[in-house]
Amino acid sequence: MTIFEKKLVMYNTLLVQTENAICTIIINRPDKLNALSKEVFDDLNKALDEILPDNGIRSVIITGAGSKAFVAGADITEFKGLNKEQAKALAKRGQDTFSRIENSDKPIVAAVNGFALGGGCELAMACHFRIASENAKFGQPEVNLGLIPGYGGTQRLVHLAGKGKALELLMSAHMIDASEAKQYGLVNYVTTAESLLERTKEILGIINAKAPLAVAGCIKAANAVFDETRDGYSVEIEEFGNAFATEDMTEGTTAFLEKRKANFKGR
Ligand code: COA
Repeated sequence: MTIFEKKLVMYNTLLVQTENAICTIIINRPDKLNALSKEVFDDLNKALDEILPDNGIRSVIITGAGSKAFVAGADITEFKGLNKEQAKALAKRGQDTFSRIENSDKPIVAAVNGFALGGGCELAMACHFRIASENAKFGQPEVNLGLIPGYGGTQRLVHLAGKGKALELLMSAHMIDASEAKQYGLVNYVTTAESLLERTKEILGIINAKAPLAVAGCIKAANAVFDETRDGYSVEIEEFGNAFATEDMTEGTTAFLEKRKANFKGR
C-alpha cells in the first residue's frame, strides 16, 4: 500500500481504517462497551499481522467505538467456569498480544475516548503513549471481582504512575478521570471528545515525518529500560550504530547541511 492510499478493513469486532499512513484500529463492540472478548483478541492479532509489516503504515491509533468507552475491560462473561490453568492461559494470551503492541516498530498510540477499565486500561498502557478525551475514565477494578489484572496492568501501572499510586489504584479499584490520569503520567494530553482523533493524528503526523527506523530505535531503546534481561545502555549503543548504517541517516544529515527538509524513506 502507498502512503497516501485510503483503506478500510472490517473484522467482526474491529474497524481498521488507514489514511495518510496512519492506521486507526477501532474496537467495535459499543453495546458491550468494547469489552475484550476472545474474538477481539483474535481480530486484534490478525489486524496486527497485517499492519505491523505494512510499509505504507507509519503509525497506529487504537480507540473505541462510540462515545462512552475506549474499552471497559476483558469480557467478564467469558470468565465463568474457567479453571486456574485456563485463567493463566487467558492472561498469557492477553499479555502476549499487548506485548506485540508495546514492542511494535511503529508508534502505537491509544486515543482514550471514555472508560478505560481493567483490560482497557492495560491495553492503553501497552501503547507507546496515550491521549485522552475529557470524559475518559481510567481504573483497574479487578479487585471488585475478586481478581487482579492479568494483561500486564500490575507492571505497566507501576512503571507509569509509580508504585505508591499504582498500588493504591490496584487495591482500591478507584477510577480516575483524565486530568488525574495526566497528573500521574498515564496520559500525555487531554482534549475534548470531538478533537481527540484529530489531535492524535496531528501528533502522529509529526512523528511520521521523522526517519521510521530511528523512531523504531527510540522505541526499542526506551522499552529496554523495563526489560531486566537487557542492558538499556547497550541497546542504545546498538541502535545508535544501526542508525548510522541507514540511508535515512545520510539523508537526514545531508538535508541539514544543505538547509532543506529531509525526505526519509525508512531505509
Ligand atoms: N465485560 C462484559 N460486558 C461488559 C463489560 C465487561 N467488562 N463492561 C460492560 N459490559 C456490558 C454490560 O454488561 C452491558 O451489557 P448489557 O446491555 O447486555 O447488560 C453493557 O456493556 C453496558 O454496560 P452497563 O454496565 O449497562 O453501562 P453503565 O454505564 O451502567 O456502566 C461501567 C459502565 C463501565 C461502569 C460498567 O459497565 C462496568 O463496571 N463494567 C465492568 C468494568 C470492569 O470491571 N472491567 C474489568 C473487567 S476484568
